[in-house]
Amino acid sequence: MRVPFVDLLAQYHSHRDEFDGALRAVIERSAFIGGEFVRNFERDFAAANGVKHCIACGNGTDAIYIVLRMLGIGPGDEVITTATSWISTAETIGQTGARPVFVDVDDHYLIDLEQIEGRLTPRTKAIIPVHLYGQAAPAWDLSELCGKHGLKLIEDCAQAHFAEWHGRKVGTFGIAGSFSFYPGKNLGAWGDAGAIVTDDADVACRCRMYANHGALVKHQHEMEGINSRMDALHASLLCAKLKYVPTWTAERRRVAARYNELLEGVGDLVLPRVRAGASHVYHLYVVRTERRDALKQFLAERGVDTAIHYPTALPFLNAYRHLNHTERDFPRAYRNQCQVLSLPMFAELDDSAVQYVCEAIKEFFSRGSPPAKATTR
Ligand SMILES: Cc1ncc(COP(=O)(O)O)c(C=O)c1O
Repeated sequence: MRVPFVDLLAQYHSHRDEFDGALRAVIERSAFIGGEFVRNFERDFAAANGVKHCIACGNGTDAIYIVLRMLGIGPGDEVITTATSWISTAETIGQTGARPVFVDVDDHYLIDLEQIEGRLTPRTKAIIPVHLYGQAAPAWDLSELCGKHGLKLIEDCAQAHFAEWHGRKVGTFGIAGSFSFYPGKNLGAWGDAGAIVTDDADVACRCRMYANHGALVKHQHEMEGINSRMDALHASLLCAKLKYVPTWTAERRRVAARYNELLEGVGDLVLPRVRAGASHVYHLYVVRTERRDALKQFLAERGVDTAIHYPTALPFLNAYRHLNHTERDFPRAYRNQCQVLSLPMFAELDDSAVQYVCEAIKEFFSRGSPPAKATTR
């Protein structure tokens, strides 16, 4: 059996006429930039998140960058973020001229709340937690900590559409939340797209302006900005897809529950743990094992695609060599980069495929695996 890591075509086949129709509507109106399709998506996405404003933009990286710039973060400032994420979270801090200050992760692969205060300096201006793999970080605690120290909270929600912390959606706890609609995300476009959500009218207005060459009205440039617009084709498709996200999330949870059931106690596998108060939308289902590389190879030989998120934690990338970090600075992030493995995860993954993946994993560990440890969930 061949089990892909994600299968975007399966989603397309289930909704082909509707999705094709969404694109056709844009083509037939030749409304490719801005206009009603983008406005409709912004309205619907804001409503779905329970926020006042949504600003569509080119991608999830720009979404973070735009917010940082419009909060006035720049040279001489420091921004705290997690040691484990995709580089966008950190590189956008650097792009503003500020310095990323990394904090190690906790047992949930999320920024370790306990370690943040130890990294604050008078130059710290903001914290960017990432709701990594789809699990909500402890957003109330982060918001309280930011309030206590006069910092801005910007939530990177690229992997966690509609995940919740104590019943409230991620992206709504701080000054702004950033989203990516990269094709493989839980809500994915057919190319690059992103968005910012916020309840702050002034931040919303400035972000909208900055993302559109510094102008809200054509030819009236109030500042120098950038060109980071969501194409109407993407907006129309995302509008059509939006209503299915709750069903797709439920399916992802079904897959995760099945993995949990079938992989409990297998080898030295550490399965994903969901913190009390957090909801997990399983953008990724990530396990850990000391025999990661061998397991990945074994699964590949049996037709199972897996991935590693991420093989090098941010502080250890060459891009951050100048910060002179060592493994001892971020022991969990370092251990994880050697041990994490993301198993196939998408809404259409059927039970026989999940069983096949789990049987292959069991077979791997039955062949000379180290003694089984209790799993932590
Ligand atoms: C945690 C995180 N932040 C930001 C981004 C950037 O999103 P985009 O690829 O749309 O620029 C991603 C995308 O993979 C991500 O996973």
